[in-house]
Amino acid sequence: PEAITVGDLANRMAERATDVIKSLMKMGVMATVNQAIDADTAELVVEEFGHRIKRVSDADVEDALLKPVEVDGDAVTRAPVVTVMGHVDHGKTSLLDALRATDIAAGEAGGITQHIGAYQVTMSSGDKITFLDTPGHAAFTAMRQRGAEVTDIVVLVVAADDGIQPQTVEAINHAKAAEVPIIVAINKIDKEGADPSKAKTQLLEHSLVPEDMGGDVICVEVSALKRIGLEALEETILLQAEMLELKAVPDAPARGAVVEAKLEVGRGSVATVLVQSGTLKVGDIFVAGQEWGRVRALLDDRGRQIQEAGPSVPVEVLGLQGTPSAGDEFIVLQDESRAREIADYRQRKNREQQFTIAARGTLEQMFEKV
Ligand code: GTP
Ligand code: MG
Repeated sequence: PEAITVGDLANRMAERATDVIKSLMKMGVMATVNQAIDADTAELVVEEFGHRIKRVSDADVEDALLKPVEVDGDAVTRAPVVTVMGHVDHGKTSLLDALRATDIAAGEAGGITQHIGAYQVTMSSGDKITFLDTPGHAAFTAMRQRGAEVTDIVVLVVAADDGIQPQTVEAINHAKAAEVPIIVAINKIDKEGADPSKAKTQLLEHSLVPEDMGGDVICVEVSALKRIGLEALEETILLQAEMLELKAVPDAPARGAVVEAKLEVGRGSVATVLVQSGTLKVGDIFVAGQEWGRVRALLDDRGRQIQEAGPSVPVEVLGLQGTPSAGDEFIVLQDESRAREIADYRQRKNREQQFTIAARGTLEQMFEKV
């Protein structure tokens, strides 16, 4: 059922809420500014104020947007997108830092690892791998729930001195649910008391059978601290990626996913976006969840300004009108008014849903009192 709050209706007509409330009273409808009225009543009010009516349905707004644009460009191989997961303290961040240090594109200025949600490593072979540093399983799950399945491969980090722990199991379950292949990185092999074979045996309990035990799960022994096995891990990732035959069309309007977003002093809303298809360019108009914007600047994972970003490239996007959420779809559109309309519509819908939940809450409270 379509509905709109009195406040929203007033806003959209650029009229005062009190005038709308008065107009409703004349019709015998008592409503406060935060209350929702149905579409038919709203229509009467709009006419009363002499405005034109344009009803937009879910289908109108969402259809054109969600329908993938037909592109006839050539699909080319894209870099794999890898999410590193594992139990607390098993060395996810250390491993990501160590892998990032293998980037030959880093240059002399490198060395400072600023924290961003995603980065891409170029190997000496020229092959690239994109790593996502999800701040935990919650983000991974949130993305999946929103249908933004950005991860091609999961690297499961297991500390050799600690073995499989509760969050390792959680990570395994997440990867399985997402049907994403798992590569196991057995970390901290430099440590005293490290027992890689014990960790491997424990994997069996979760139906992950290591290759050397007759299965198909590749385990790579690494040390993030001593930088052991990093190349072997990267090569394993590339091998797995080759089998997945990952492709995307670069010559199209960009579509992707928001990896993280925040409001920064002096910069406004900033989002780290992973481009999944097409190419994102400075000046592009886009919708990201309930927000829209025009790309003011693009920064790569080392903070350098770039003009465009193709498939599997993570970029920081400046020029958002608001702050979207991790997992939101990011879609480039042709015109600004359409972008505004969609963002507006989604915000309104979200408010209405929240209102419905709140209203239900008070109703339940009322019944409790009886
Ligand atoms: P959370 O983000 O808190 O879940 O931890 P994490 O998985 O990111 O682990 P982190 O990289 O912070 O490492 C935890 C501790 O393990 C740190 O003290 C690291 O120095 C140490 N560590 C990580 N990798 C290695 C390794 O290969 N060998 C040794 N000896 N220590 C390591
Ligand atoms: Mg960490």
